[in-house]
Formats: sequence, structure tokens, C-alpha cells
Amino acid sequence: MKARLKSGTLNYVDKGNGPPVLLIHAFPLNHTMWQSQVAVLSSRFRVIAPDIRGFGESLPASPWTIDEMCDDLAEFLDQLNIKTCAVAGLSMGGYIGLPFCLKYPDRVLQIILANTRARADNETEKAARTEMIAALEQHGAGILPDRMLPRLLQPNPSPEVVHLVRDLMANTSASAAIYAVMAMRDRPDCSSRLHRVSCPALVVAGENDVITNTDECRSIAEGIPGGRFVLISKAGHLTNLENPQEFNRAITDFIV
Ligand code: MLT
Repeated sequence: MKARLKSGTLNYVDKGNGPPVLLIHAFPLNHTMWQSQVAVLSSRFRVIAPDIRGFGESLPASPWTIDEMCDDLAEFLDQLNIKTCAVAGLSMGGYIGLPFCLKYPDRVLQIILANTRARADNETEKAARTEMIAALEQHGAGILPDRMLPRLLQPNPSPEVVHLVRDLMANTSASAAIYAVMAMRDRPDCSSRLHRVSCPALVVAGENDVITNTDECRSIAEGIPGGRFVLISKAGHLTNLENPQEFNRAITDFIV
């Protein structure tokens, strides 16, 4: 389905009936990463999974900040006539989901922050992002699988998941990737505002995640009043893809 936003056309899936759940995808993927969650959650919820600006079939790619992406999503929910919903963001999706929840507290009934950070990048991480942008400008999006796959998945990942993630990356344009890396590099630090999250929160970590470590995820849960924490076994960074059974159970147990 397509929504027309001020920033362009937003492609999304909208499946099921019940309380709405907005799923925000990771970098450098698209809404298809949520296919298992859409299938399972849509038996009880209205599941909405957009391709964020420039990714998947959302066009055109154009520069964005995290704050602007929060506004894109608020405009998108307005168009769907959704006033309040649960929000789940994985990694980059959490870099957007947490500020969204802080900026639009009246719209978020529950927040799920998976494999993500509340803090901004440190100087070393910012420098790595700047190098990634230069590499994408020079060589294109074809560099993404070799650079990202070994870090996104646990050691010895399932061949099906590797195949799926490669396919998802093949769909990503260099410009979408560049604008997203810029937005992630320049994202705000939300760690000092965690206490202001006023809705129930679940923080999800993967036991073999090498991008966002378990302790960092646990400390996000500790910073949010009443925040809950769950560790997904046998999963790296992409917990929803590597262990969908545990991930889906954690989410459905949380959003009641
Ligand atoms: C993601 O999975 O969204 C990204 O790897 C996050 C990041 O690069 O910090």
C-alpha cells in the first residue's frame, strides 16, 4: 500500500484488525524484515510496517534527520487515522522509535526497543559512519552485504536468514543508505531522557549481538520507569529474524 507524505511516497503493509502496532525496520533493510511478525501479530493486532524514506519501495530517497523521520511517521499515522498505537523499532528503528515516543508521548501506548541504543554515537562510531558514507559514495550499495552481514547475524547463521537478509540489502539504494547513515551518525542522545518515557516499555537484546550489547540494552530498560528487559537466545543483532519464535512471544506477551 502507498501513503503520500510531504516527503514522498511511503510504501507499507497494513494487515490484521485490533490495536495498531507500528513496526520500524533496521538498516539497511526494509519492512520485509518483519514478515514473521506481520504473519503472527496480525491475528490479534493491526500490524503496520512501512519502508522508511528511501528504503524498499518508499520514494524518493532524500536526506532526513531522526526528528524529521518522527514527523514522517506521525504524518503517516494521521493519514491512517491512527491516534495511538504500540511502536516497535529494531536497531535503526529504535533510534527512531524512542525519540518518536518522547516527541509524541500521547500517540504511543507501548514501546518496544529491540537491539538498539538510547545514546548518540561516540566519536569513533561517528568516524566509522563517515567512512561508510564515503565508501557508499564511491562503490555503491553493493558493499553492504560484505560489511554488514557478519555483524548483523550470529556466528554460523541459518542459510535461509543469510539469504533473506542479502535479498533485503539488494533492495537498498546507495542514496537511501547514505542518508540513513548520516541520520544515525547525527542522531540525538536520548539516554538522559529515558525517565520521561511514560508508557510501558520492553527492551529486547540478542544473546549474540555484536552491534548493540546486552548490558547497554539492559541499561535502557533500567532507565525507563517500569521498563522490562528480555534476552532472546540464539540470535545476533536481528533477533526478530534469527529467533522469531522467542521474539514474537516476547512481543505478544508484552502488548496485551
Ligand atoms: C541497524 O541494524 O539498524 C544498524 O546496524 C544500526 C547501526 O548501524 O547502528
